[in-house]
This record gives sequence, structure tokens and C-alpha cells, in this order.
Amino acid sequence: MENHASSVTSALHKLIADQVARGDGWLPFDRYMALALYAPGLGYYANTSRKFGTMPGSGSDFVTAPEMSPLFGQCLALQVEEALEHTGTDEIWEFGAGSGALAHQMLQVLDPRVRRYTIVELSAALRERQQQVLAPYADKVEWASELPGKMRGVVVGNEVLDAMPVKLVARKDMRWHERGITVQDGKLAWSDVLTHLRPPVVPTGQQDYLTELHHQAQAFMRTLAERLEQGAAFFIDYGFPEAEYYHPQRHMGTLMCHRAHQADPDPLEAPGGKDITSHVDFTGIAVAAQDAGLPTLGFATQGRFLINCGIVERMASLPLPQQSAAQRLVSEHEMGELFKVIAFQRGAFWNALGFRYGDRTHAL
Ligand SMILES: C[S@@+](CC[C@H](N)C(=O)[O-])C[C@H]1O[C@@H](n2cnc3c(N)ncnc32)[C@H](O)[C@@H]1O
Repeated sequence: MENHASSVTSALHKLIADQVARGDGWLPFDRYMALALYAPGLGYYANTSRKFGTMPGSGSDFVTAPEMSPLFGQCLALQVEEALEHTGTDEIWEFGAGSGALAHQMLQVLDPRVRRYTIVELSAALRERQQQVLAPYADKVEWASELPGKMRGVVVGNEVLDAMPVKLVARKDMRWHERGITVQDGKLAWSDVLTHLRPPVVPTGQQDYLTELHHQAQAFMRTLAERLEQGAAFFIDYGFPEAEYYHPQRHMGTLMCHRAHQADPDPLEAPGGKDITSHVDFTGIAVAAQDAGLPTLGFATQGRFLINCGIVERMASLPLPQQSAAQRLVSEHEMGELFKVIAFQRGAFWNALGFRYGDRTHAL
């Protein structure tokens, strides 16, 4: 396993060094992140490492909500069912389905109601894993490797937006730079060049400041908005509205790596061997969708959303260990507050189940 990981890293290192050389010695960080995560066969999400799971002993790197408790998918399914009703559709589209756990949980609830469940998955290795988990629903589940031209149905994506490549910008001595990668003595190293790029909210004060720009996630939302002819979309992820994201005190940005259930801040070490992620700027996501004609249906913390969908009542009937796993989804100190749910609808607005109490769209 170790040998496999180090051969992936050295092959990816060579690929990245070639790209740096082609770019006259400089590669913008978003291009680096795209290679480190998605280079065919080598990038973190394209290679065969385990990634998702609850314990480091399983060889996994981090845990996501559907891995933590099946109540996540069961509660989201109730919201999706309502959205299918309101939009008069019968299909689900899931982006980046990981181990297939969320699809499995939702199909357990929605199987008779859903005609087709399509997973848009970039990774061939993950698609294979999903095919095994979803074998009982083989007649309904299909896979696509890119966004289709036209879509009807309810879209879901858990922790997908945070995995989209970001640009890094750094204010140093009151001048803005774009941060990229160079190669020094055979090693990957940071390199900054002056830029006209700015965060959507320029942080007040004069301190040095590092942050991320989410052009790719916003382009993804625009494309989704253009192609979703009928339906709704729900994205769950960690992040903030822009005023909080680009707060003067958040001067180190939010970029983070995950390996073996430990977080570290160095994406240049061991490319392909760990996840690289940043928090989501939910205002940017909402504005991109709205500008392309897809208005916001609701925005709430994950805790509030799941409580609105009835998670507390469901928890009560579970044995204690499963109750405490589900509790982590809603607890303010764990995933309940940092994680948010943002939703969009094509067509008439309705007072959606998950946002009935505690909707925070006004905070975007
Ligand atoms: C952190 S994982 C989350 C996996 C899963 N949803 C879960 O909750 O366990 C991020 C996933 O998003 C996928 N992803 C990123 N960009 C994507 C895109 N444009 N289309 C489809 N999937 C994408 C990645 O391939 C990866 O599988």
C-alpha cells in the first residue's frame, strides 16, 4: 500500500513538474489542485486508495455525513421526496457519490418513487465501488462522467463543492498576488505573482491575508443552472456566507488536506496521497446560480435542516452508539453548525421542509 502510494506521488510529481515547465516555471494553484485530485489514474480522487470511512484502521482518510450515520440520507430523502412532488419530476442526480452510501440510503426510502438515479462521477475507481454498493438497485442506477446537456429532477451533492479546485490569492504589503507552484531543486514550492484578482469582499485592515477564490465551483453552478430544465438542487458542505468567509480575522484562508483522519495545511507534500479541500463561499454559489436563472430555495445549517426533516424523532428509536453517531450530524460542535445546506429551485417557490424553521437565506 505504502509503495503504491509513493509511486502514485512520484508519477504525479513528474506530471506536475512537466506542467510547471510548460508554464514557464509557474503553475496556478487551481491547476495544481485539479491535477493533485483528478489527474487520470493518479489524482487523489482518481486513484484506488480507500478515502472514505469512519476509522483510520480501514485505510480511510476522512469521514463524511453518509458514512457517519444512515439517518443523514434517510432525512435528506424526505426533503428530496417533497422536491420531486413539487417539481413534478421522478429522477435524482447525485454528483460525486463517494462510496455510494448516500445513494443507498436515499434509494432505501425513495425506490418506488424514483424512476432513475444517475450518479455523475469523475472517478472510475469510485464508480466501481458504487456499482458494488448499489447492486440491489442496478435497474435504476446509471452513471455519467460529466454534466449532461439537459436535466430534469432533483440534484444532490454532499461535500462536492469543497472538492473543486480553487485559486489562491495573497495580500502581501497591501499588494495582491496569485499563489502558484514552481519547482526548486527538484521540489515543489510556492511562488507568488502580482495579480488583478481580488476576493469578492476585500478584507479590511492592512495585514497580510491569504484566501481562496471559487471560480470553478461558481462556473459549475452556472452550468447546472443552465441545464436544469425542471427540478431542484441541494448541496451540503462546510463553509460560510461571504462576509464571514472573507472576514479580516480569517487571514490564513481555509485550504486544508486530509489523510488518515488527520488534517494538515501542506497541499504540496505527497500530491495524490491526500485530499485537498477548501470551505465553500455560499454567497458566491448562490449568486452564480441566481445570475444563471436558478434562485435560492433555502439556506440553513445542517443541524437545523436535519432537525426540520425529523432526525431527532428518528434518533430516539436507535441503540445508543448509533444515536451518538447521528448526534454528531446535528451537534453545533461537530457538523451541525459549520456544515450548511443550500438549495435551489426551478419553477415556483415552496416552503421546503428542511428550511421551514431557521432559514438563513437572508445571511447570504
Ligand atoms: C469529499 S468527496 C465526497 C463524496 C461523497 N459525496 C460523500 O459524501 O461521501 C468529493 C467528491 O466530489 C467529486 N467531484 C468533484 N468535482 C466534481 C464534479 N464536477 N462532478 C462530479 N463529481 C465531482 C469527487 O470526485 C469526489 O468523489
